[in-house]
Amino acid sequence: MQSDIRRTLLEMFTNSEDEYVSGQKISDMLGCSRTAVWKHIEDLRKEGYELEAVRKKGYRIVQKPNKVSETELRLGLHTDRIGQSIHYEETVDSTQKIAHRLAQEGAKEGTVVVAEEQIAGRGRLDRVWYSPKHTGVWMSIILRPPLPPQRAPQLTLLTAVAVVQAIQEVTGISPDIKWPNDVLINGKKAVGILTEMQADADRIHSVIIGIGINVNQNSGHFDSAIQDIATSLKIESGEDINRALLMQTIFAKLEQLYDEYLTNGFKLIKLLWEAHAVSIGKHIVARTLTGSIEGFAKGITDEGILLLEDAYGQMHQIHSADIELMNR
Ligand code: BTN
Repeated sequence: MQSDIRRTLLEMFTNSEDEYVSGQKISDMLGCSRTAVWKHIEDLRKEGYELEAVRKKGYRIVQKPNKVSETELRLGLHTDRIGQSIHYEETVDSTQKIAHRLAQEGAKEGTVVVAEEQIAGRGRLDRVWYSPKHTGVWMSIILRPPLPPQRAPQLTLLTAVAVVQAIQEVTGISPDIKWPNDVLINGKKAVGILTEMQADADRIHSVIIGIGINVNQNSGHFDSAIQDIATSLKIESGEDINRALLMQTIFAKLEQLYDEYLTNGFKLIKLLWEAHAVSIGKHIVARTLTGSIEGFAKGITDEGILLLEDAYGQMHQIHSADIELMNR
């Protein structure tokens, strides 16, 4: 309720651009007293909105906070499920951890956990994921596909396509995908996706899709250990990117692709993924937790598993690995 009122208020301010909106107009629109209007304005100020009040004119927004709060994410969101329920926190250890708990407690499909900062962000293969405050998108999305667990890897690839499409739309940059789900710009990693699930032998209960995007970091923000391999959308585009808009676009693309997938299967998603993939048809090294295999990446299976042919013509199915592209 409170968040609906805040959204209506923000819509009024956004629609009237630089014009003042009178207290009377606001109280008519919200159907509440002038004192109640003032309280709602104070709530927005507490959320970090800078609002100017001028006697006899009314209110206008001077500056929005650099936050991906529920209020910001709900304003102008055009989805049916993804992002309709938002769990926002300033600082968390990991959004994955919270999403797992919410999923276990019965959170509905499309619930998004988002934070401004993670202090124990996790990557694939037990790595650390740096998630500094207010600079990136750190979120976990809960899906509940009515599918067997073997099909979960397809959702990882589907998510990578949705993220690439959203980045293209918001920034104009056209990223590549390195199997299974690293999103690269000019060969450097800008996005990581971590898919985890709660399932029994024949049925998925929930899939938790963790998405980490380096958005507004400058090159100095990156630790020297990752400076040569990581990048951000700001570094690549030369502009500050609106994180809330990027997230809303991801929600819309993901919902579209997910609906297509549930109705018609993986076929179209596989084609879209292949159109962005840089690791297929190349000589690569796949480093798994148990060792490395070098060979030619033939393609992906209909389940989303990587097919790698080694120097002896033997075919390997790779389920999880880090991929290095060889220069030949
Ligand atoms: C990778 O190793 O490439 C995957 C990185 C995934 C990072 C995201 S950020 C949001 C979510 N919470 C986490 O702790 N990890 C994922």
